[in-house]
Amino acid sequence: MNLGTLWGIGVGPGDGEWLTLKGLRIIQSVDIIAVPQNNQGQPGMAYKIVRDFLSAEQTILPLYLPFVRDKDHLEQAWQKATSQLVPYLKAGRDVAFLSEGDISFYSTFTYIFQTLKSQLPDAKIDSVPGICSPLAAASVLQEPLAIGSEKIAILPAVYSLQELENALQWAEVVVLMKVGSVFTDVWYFLQEKGLLERAQLVEWIGWDKQKIYATLKEIEPTAKPHYFSILILRKQDSA
Ligand SMILES: C[S@@+](CC[C@H](N)C(=O)[O-])C[C@H]1O[C@@H](n2cnc3c(N)ncnc32)[C@H](O)[C@@H]1O
Repeated sequence: MNLGTLWGIGVGPGDGEWLTLKGLRIIQSVDIIAVPQNNQGQPGMAYKIVRDFLSAEQTILPLYLPFVRDKDHLEQAWQKATSQLVPYLKAGRDVAFLSEGDISFYSTFTYIFQTLKSQLPDAKIDSVPGICSPLAAASVLQEPLAIGSEKIAILPAVYSLQELENALQWAEVVVLMKVGSVFTDVWYFLQEKGLLERAQLVEWIGWDKQKIYATLKEIEPTAKPHYFSILILRKQDSA
């Protein structure tokens, strides 16, 4: 059987021009574009980032990939989403799965990759990296993310303030993702440490609605930054 290839394409966090040349070539050459869907069941953020580069002849396949913590629910969703791709791959057609940001950096593509390997062991899978949100954040803040011997801690979410405390012990730069839901706790924690002025927040990096807070003093502790927000904390000025 001549199987099609599943491509995982990192499309970057917002600005479509951050897509790589290879990513652009692949998404314009495949018939099927698979994308995580939004809450309304429509193609979500990754699709919006590159839709201007796609053509009306391409099939857009929105996949239900929920943000929940229930393992059974997630497993079922990954199985179902993957089984929607298999018929195309078996028919020899290439599919590009779009991921917001980078494809290997906290991306659902990893679960699709693993599930496809179990559903179709001979599957051909390849990927193209994209710009991940911490790198894009540093760019829009016009600051280095790290320099010299600085160490970076990236917390995919703040599950406890102790984790943040631990990261501050060894890293010069701490990046907090998914910070919106715990923002108030983080704000007071940083205030207590005297670090409010060392922390910056960016919402919607690379989108028209992008918002930069140059220090956390510019934002109320009770604010509720959007899910697409990232906080970068630098303990001291870069050398
Ligand atoms: C599941 S992770 C996805 C990461 C993504 N694959 C990447 O490479 O950046 C989602 C988190 O990434 C961060 N993020 C992704 N895109 C963003 C954007 N455009 N603006 C701000 N934060 C973003 C936020 O912290 C968000 O909660």
